[in-house]
Amino acid sequence: MDSTPHQEQGIQPGSDTDVAISIPSMEAYYAFCKEAEEDYEGFWERYARQLLHWTQPFTKVLNESDAPFYKWFEDGKLNASYNCLDRHLLNGNADKIAIRFESDRGEVTHCSYRELHAQVCRFANGLKSLGLKKGDRAVIYMPMSVEGVVAMQACARLGIMHSVVFAGFSAKSLHERLVDVEAKVVITADEQMRGGRILPVKAIVDEALGLADSQTVENVIVYRRTGGDIAWTPGRDRWMDEVSIGQPDSCPAEPVSAEHPLFVLYTSGSTGKPKGVQHSTAGYLLWALMTMRWTFDLKPDDVFWCTADIGWVTGHTYIAYGPLIAGATQVMYEGVPSYPNSGRFWDIIQSHKVSIFYTAPTAIRSLIKSSEADGQIHPRQYDLSSLRLLGSVGEPINPEAWRWYHKHVGKERCPIVDTFWQTETGGHMITPLPVTTPLVPGSCMLPLPGIMAAVVDEAGHEVPNGQAGLLVITRPWPSLARTIWRDPERFRTSYFPQALGGKLYLAGDGCVRDKETGYFTITGRVDDVLNVSGHRMGSTEIESALVANSLVAEAAVVGRPDAVTGEAICAFVVLKGPRPGAEDAARIAAELSSWVGREIGPIAKPKDIRFGDNLPKTRSGKIMRRLLRSLAEGKEITQDTSALENPAILEQLKSTK
Ligand code: WTA
Repeated sequence: MDSTPHQEQGIQPGSDTDVAISIPSMEAYYAFCKEAEEDYEGFWERYARQLLHWTQPFTKVLNESDAPFYKWFEDGKLNASYNCLDRHLLNGNADKIAIRFESDRGEVTHCSYRELHAQVCRFANGLKSLGLKKGDRAVIYMPMSVEGVVAMQACARLGIMHSVVFAGFSAKSLHERLVDVEAKVVITADEQMRGGRILPVKAIVDEALGLADSQTVENVIVYRRTGGDIAWTPGRDRWMDEVSIGQPDSCPAEPVSAEHPLFVLYTSGSTGKPKGVQHSTAGYLLWALMTMRWTFDLKPDDVFWCTADIGWVTGHTYIAYGPLIAGATQVMYEGVPSYPNSGRFWDIIQSHKVSIFYTAPTAIRSLIKSSEADGQIHPRQYDLSSLRLLGSVGEPINPEAWRWYHKHVGKERCPIVDTFWQTETGGHMITPLPVTTPLVPGSCMLPLPGIMAAVVDEAGHEVPNGQAGLLVITRPWPSLARTIWRDPERFRTSYFPQALGGKLYLAGDGCVRDKETGYFTITGRVDDVLNVSGHRMGSTEIESALVANSLVAEAAVVGRPDAVTGEAICAFVVLKGPRPGAEDAARIAAELSSWVGREIGPIAKPKDIRFGDNLPKTRSGKIMRRLLRSLAEGKEITQDTSALENPAILEQLKSTK
């Protein structure tokens, strides 16, 4: 009898998530892929029915009538928080540890699924008592904390769409986002602790709310992290614990439509302001769960640790939703890898017996640098024997860092899953599978079953293996972002451009498939998006911030390779006044750098600022960025410069260092 991979694993429709979804061999991988190819909708339908709890089952699978605004399982109803919490209370896992939290200073607390559920319910009831309800929007501006996850889950429980803003963004960036989503409530903390330092948080919210157009915000709810002195606006501000206190431990989970917006997360594109990437409820959750199982081969006894911040998509999918819906025990860490010393990550792995460790190449590279430099602190001094799987995310991992990670952290025993994905894709797209695919350093290997990836040329035609091109996904999948908040047209033109025929999802990354194996290797962004320490930054955003300074007439920003941060930001600036001499240049550069820090956030500060009388432009006035990239890297200019209006400028813009 023919059997599908589902039947082989005995997955029954309607059964709980205890069913082990794993891809135990390459044969199984290809069988899953074949199943998806032969019956695409049926493939997704089976998982959606089996893995999610529905209060109203769906009858429609995929609706493509308004492409590229695809809808999945649209007439079904469910609740994300119910799926992440209540289901574990019902299946005997109530006392399983959900989160083990380690603070900056090293204090450890933990909460079971039962306790997390109660905490979420009390806070959700508190939000309700303030008049918040389904359809409202909340901005969450919080440090890494269990309370941050509670805030997200409580919003999801009531059908409130959240927008988490990384707590390193400036008041101006925060303001831009809360105005765009028309937030009714901001959930924040008094202060945050990172690397032994206390940093303001609530003060930044106050500053953002002091700017124009933020009157939609009625309440500011403050998690008491440090107890430090903060300004208080009576009537508007409330402590999070006071909002929750006395509230019942249970709160009905509001059933929402499968397509109900779960969250908006802002990310940088190649032009204009950051885009509010909006995700759905069911499709997003389904993929969060499937990838937890497939990519991480999650088992009931695993201790999972994702080092991302909840302010980025990785912290959404692989902290706030994925591990919870999968019923995992996870570690959450408040601070930075280098405090009190560069052994902190290894110490956490050792003491919490982490078995799956998921981090970013930039963290690995900085730890390589510190451990190899002084040799005082090295992973070999720690007991890392609990590890069985390593993951990498956010940027290409260079083979050298991959090998070090594999050798010194994974002791050549743990596979590395190099997961390629994006804010817009909701979850992993292309990744090695821990139990099956052979590993090639620096390659993301193969798309997960159900993900139809291809490499095409500028006209949308597939290129042969071995030839570089653009990475596209040829069919919509459930966790694809639904739109850009308040700008659907930008969604269409950014991700489904007419030049490629209007049907292919354009990732914005270059890619090449291996000639023999067909494995995918991502070669980096093909647009003006920079990737600094795994953080996406638009060059135009930084340019706009620079020209907003009264000293600056014109600015162009490019990335250059950096041994630790992957890319570093290099800015070429023309001042309104004369080009400064060496001493003034250093002072003005420092001033502009902190200006950008205030305008966007410290992560956007240029590492290198150079001044010129002008920028290299063509006769028609277009800035020649490729020349700037060579200059930024300190390379000799070998390109054709005949189109250049002002060749002498190149000499001026060379690094003086
Ligand atoms: C890059 C982060 C190579 C890529 C999850 C993508 C990667 C952007 C990888 C998305 C990887 C992410 N290998 N490049 N494993 N993972 N990228 O939206 O350029 O913050 O387009 O999502 O990061 O960044 P985002």
